[in-house]
Amino acid sequence: MVGAPRTAGVKEVAAHAGVSLGTVSNVLNRPERVSSRTRARVEAAMSELGFMRNESARQLRAGSSRTLGYVMLDATNPFFTDVAQGIEEAADEADLSLFICNSDNRSERERTYLDRLQQQRVQGILITPVDPDAAILDEVSARGTHIVIVDRTRHNETHCSVAVDDVLGGELAIEHLIELGHRQIAFVGGPDTVGQVLDRRLGAKNALVRAGLGESNLTVVPTFAMTAAEGRGAGERIAGLPAAARPTAAFCANDLLAFGLLQQCVTLGMRVPEDLAIVGYDDIEFASAAAVPLTSVRQPRRQLGRTAAEMLLDEASPGHEHRQVLFTPELVVRASTRHSG
Ligand code: RIB
Repeated sequence: MVGAPRTAGVKEVAAHAGVSLGTVSNVLNRPERVSSRTRARVEAAMSELGFMRNESARQLRAGSSRTLGYVMLDATNPFFTDVAQGIEEAADEADLSLFICNSDNRSERERTYLDRLQQQRVQGILITPVDPDAAILDEVSARGTHIVIVDRTRHNETHCSVAVDDVLGGELAIEHLIELGHRQIAFVGGPDTVGQVLDRRLGAKNALVRAGLGESNLTVVPTFAMTAAEGRGAGERIAGLPAAARPTAAFCANDLLAFGLLQQCVTLGMRVPEDLAIVGYDDIEFASAAAVPLTSVRQPRRQLGRTAAEMLLDEASPGHEHRQVLFTPELVVRASTRHSG
């Protein structure tokens, strides 16, 4: 009986395209190292010969496991666990497992987890990095592990990334408060090392200028972290301002800060929104369940995670081009800014 025709292997593709075995391997695994002209020649040969990559052999050679890794920034922030759920959905559909690590916003922990995930031979890593421009991300890629950056953007576009337009998010928050008549608004957020804080604050300033107001209408209340505890501290400082200078509204750089601020208002007997209107950012599940349901700028968290995972799975495809995807946030208005009646 004539055996089934053997599908062409890498050797036949290399001979047919007139390139080395290494070039074919790069087209399959590190296409960014191959010129588009050579890549097109190799892909044409694959198509003409009916080449099908041997996934199990590739994994065996590469030693890669059927796993992805996600290094999140802060496991106590539901924003990141929601992102992780989106990643897990996409990984599960590809029959892959997901290792979730928490860097706790600390570079040394991040490095440790990146090393361990590479030792585990994961197929790829998604990361919300402490510093998006850190050299370690290039080091990991150079060693052959694909990386996609989640919820942060790099100055140079050397990797796929998925983020949200935080400048627009800041503009949406402030435009809403200006429409409600607020003219002295607090911006609660920090540290300035977090790019999201800078972008959200920039958006706030843009909206003030567009409304004919200026930076003097923005009372910046810096925080050391984006946590509820820091939000309570900001509440103390806002309440302690002289009545004439006290903001009538606050835009918080994320929902955890907003929950802390809301909690402190209750402690100090300040009514929300009557004495202080509050806007958060992320619109995590608890925002709608807060004692005073929180107006928040919604980030498409699961979609962020799912899209990032799908981009990572595409990294090894022939002809893969790195992309930087930017999602649009939306304002969800609730009782923390809207006067009842
Ligand atoms: O990392 C802190 C914040 O940045 C999160 O709350 C989310 O808004 C992310 O973009």
